Amino acid sequence: MPKISNRPGTGKKPANRRRSGDGIADRDTPLIRNCWYVLDWSADVEHALKNRMVLGHDLVYFRTKSGEITALQNRCAHRCFPLHRSTLHDDDTIQCGYHGLTYATDGKCVKVPSAMDLKPRGIRLQHYPVIDRPPMVWVWTGDPEKADPGLLPDYDWVNGDDWGYGKGFYHVKGNYLAIHENLMDITHFQFLHGAALGTPRHAESKVHVTVKGNTVDNYRVNEGEPVPQLHQKATGLSLETPIIRHAHSTFVTPGFHDALGKFEDPAGTNNGRTEYTPRILHFITPETQYTSYYWWIFARDFKPGDKRLDNTYSRRTAQVFEEDKDAIEWMEEQWAKEDRPDFRESHVPSDEGAVKMRRIVHRLAREQD
Ligand code: FES
Ligand SMILES: [Fe+2]
Repeated sequence: MPKISNRPGTGKKPANRRRSGDGIADRDTPLIRNCWYVLDWSADVEHALKNRMVLGHDLVYFRTKSGEITALQNRCAHRCFPLHRSTLHDDDTIQCGYHGLTYATDGKCVKVPSAMDLKPRGIRLQHYPVIDRPPMVWVWTGDPEKADPGLLPDYDWVNGDDWGYGKGFYHVKGNYLAIHENLMDITHFQFLHGAALGTPRHAESKVHVTVKGNTVDNYRVNEGEPVPQLHQKATGLSLETPIIRHAHSTFVTPGFHDALGKFEDPAGTNNGRTEYTPRILHFITPETQYTSYYWWIFARDFKPGDKRLDNTYSRRTAQVFEEDKDAIEWMEEQWAKEDRPDFRESHVPSDEGAVKMRRIVHRLAREQD
């Protein structure tokens, strides 16, 4: 088992280890640093100081006047004053709100007001690699030498005219792996979400798991059931229409999960259309060891230009995902509140993909040690 992470700033001390079995990551496994994680919505970052904790690193970030995004340690190098409570000047320098030390976008101190003839070499803030790829902004808290932009998932298609999307965000009081596991496991649909996502035989269909490198794909197909209620109005498919429902849920990186669906209506009952594609991008960022951020984009290739439908999807998916958030937070509470050292999770066949994902994360954690 990996060592327990108890570093300052990584959240509370675990009260109860998961004891999942050898070689499987759990809520105590050290966070995977060499990975891109979403920091914010791109549209929400302006020329104003913002603050967010990412993997236990407290960051201050903003968009410069020329449009790039800068992320720095949110702690003045002089006396730890939080820089997001400071002043951002028009020349993109941050002036600390305590004694006025002033920092450039690369984190170097360029001015010490109490010693104007001092060349403040060596006074600097940690600077973090950032990529602004709308609609998301990504940050890297690991080894900057390894921050390869090529490791970002490809989702530029979502900005095209062929797609519309709803979106949302939750802060989740639970370890980020519990969110990944929830997304790998679609057998919970009909029990946790009821009719909104589940259909009567959904949990029974066989899952096909494929591992390629560090990605794990779960695929299942259901035939002869109606479209889930969530998509009924948008697709225009009636609940009497039996469809073929394909569902991929793919762990891509510790910061990203891709869920690709397809509804097939071979009879073309709705104006001859035979295929409908929903695709959900899930962006998961550990805040600390035991708290996380969760952004999602719920995209569709049906009625893509319908802005009211975008809002409907934002609202309805927020309702559904709140049920996931509640489940994850209740489980986290359960881990924390009761010391049951002999407890071991029982795995069932449909957990195959999630267990493989957790093995990969366990290996990644060991490799970064
Ligand atoms: S604490 Fe920032 S200048 Fe002193
Ligand atoms: Fe769910």
